[in-house]
Amino acid sequence: MAKQAVSTDMRDKNEITREDLAKLLNEDLAREYQAIISYVIYSQVLKGAAYTDIASQLELHAKQELDHALTISRQVDYLGEMPTVTPKPVRTSEDARQMLRFDLENENETIRNYRDRVRQCEALGEFALAEQIRQILVQEQDHQIDLATALGEDVPDVNAGPKSRSKR
Ligand SMILES: [Fe+2]
Ligand SMILES: [Fe+2]
Repeated sequence: MAKQAVSTDMRDKNEITREDLAKLLNEDLAREYQAIISYVIYSQVLKGAAYTDIASQLELHAKQELDHALTISRQVDYLGEMPTVTPKPVRTSEDARQMLRFDLENENETIRNYRDRVRQCEALGEFALAEQIRQILVQEQDHQIDLATALGEDVPDVNAGPKSRSKR
């Protein structure tokens, strides 16, 4: 996370307040906006026969990311915060593989965060929120698989925990 609005590093990251959770969900929402923008653009600019399949998959991703943004936004509102209006920065490239790599890195980061969020929601007794995030997580993992497959790579292991988290 670029901004350390919530200092969860100092304590067990599952021990948070509802206010912390709302702030973290707003970070998730900013990542969903980033994903919507990336997939809207990349699905249209990826050219060439080699990328026909992934381009149409990216269009589907764009629509799913919008559904995620709506779900997360409702959760932020439910927790008494105003949903953010600002996406995380979107990286672009002229190079098709580089574009797909940016998407894959973003999905990895998103998956790490949602795995934390499920545990945090449950620690707060917010089981319905946890369930909604689990459903989003299933689709994010599909996105990750689509991108890794298009790149001809193994699906990355993002289970290594917060210590290995990339600082961006
Ligand atoms: Fe998403
Ligand atoms: Fe995604």
